[in-house]
Amino acid sequence: MTGFEPFFQYLSGVEQFNAVLSPLKQAVEAVWQPRLNGNIPKFMAVVDRHNFASQGEVQLHQPVISFHAIDLPADDATSNLRTDLKALMPWRKGPFQINDVVIDSEWRCDMKWARLENALDFTNKHVIDIGSGNGYYALRCIGAGAASVTAIDPSVLSVAQFQYLNRFFNRQDVTVLPLALEDVPYKAPAWDVAISMGVLYHRKSPFEHLESIREKLVPGGELILETLVVEGDINSVLVPENRYAMMNNVYFLPSVALLESWLRKAGFESIEVVSVSTTERDEQRLTEWKAGTSLDDYLDPNDPTKTIEGHPIPTRAILYAKKPDADKRLPRYQL
Ligand SMILES: C[S@@+](CC[C@H](N)C(=O)[O-])C[C@H]1O[C@@H](n2cnc3c(N)ncnc32)[C@H](O)[C@@H]1O
Repeated sequence: MTGFEPFFQYLSGVEQFNAVLSPLKQAVEAVWQPRLNGNIPKFMAVVDRHNFASQGEVQLHQPVISFHAIDLPADDATSNLRTDLKALMPWRKGPFQINDVVIDSEWRCDMKWARLENALDFTNKHVIDIGSGNGYYALRCIGAGAASVTAIDPSVLSVAQFQYLNRFFNRQDVTVLPLALEDVPYKAPAWDVAISMGVLYHRKSPFEHLESIREKLVPGGELILETLVVEGDINSVLVPENRYAMMNNVYFLPSVALLESWLRKAGFESIEVVSVSTTERDEQRLTEWKAGTSLDDYLDPNDPTKTIEGHPIPTRAILYAKKPDADKRLPRYQL
């Protein structure tokens, strides 16, 4: 638990987390068991390899999240740093920079952040980032003034990458917890803002996902939802029978109109479409920090409008929505 303790300590001073803190800690204790998951000791050994005590300048509000030590470290320290960071590959989310080492991740997350950052005011908000990856967006939320970010992701590598980076950033108001949304206490209305990006299309039940998010928000809480969409009207949805862009765990790709309707049915209001954009090759690509395959390999080389399976190419929508204020009753058909 040690890596998560400073964050829990930080939340313990915030009244709106009084009820949720203890079950949240128990949920982490239940899954963070090195003897049950070999990835925990494997990746945490890298995190624990060095004890970086250097002071430096942290930038959380620039496209490249960075740390620059005041005293430039010796060459062998830089070489150890690069070796450690490489041992934590693949780096899907970023970019980050620690001293001279630039982690040019597979995804240029700064491009998605630029599309959503003006959708709401993060100042003094307590945020939950569901399916956060290594915490790139969570750190950008802090850079935008959030009071805290509870980032959750069941991937041990994501947790380890965050913890390694946070040895430099040294933030107590943000962490990546090794949890799926289903692990978080169900009715826990503690957060002012929820972010769910790149998760809904992986869920077999989109309504359970949306309802579960609503239950995490305080009355009047805000949601940023990003997911894959297709063209069409309120009755259009693609459910790929097999793979979609090589992913074998994709379920529902609605049209934007249907996604808005799902949000209303799930009990959200004030719905706005923030952006709709096709993922380009400069946003998701192979780099030295992500080996194997990337977007280029998932698209039809002969037809730029199709994935390799013949589906429409990945297009992502970002929507903003609000949980109603406490005194509003939900219409009966809602969840
Ligand atoms: C496509 S990535 C999106 C990452 C990031 N939110 C983004 O937009 O770039 C989906 C992430 O969701 C995580 N994930 C999968 N199932 C989840 C669940 N049930 N609850 C929370 N996160 C989940 C995965 O481990 C993965 O890191």
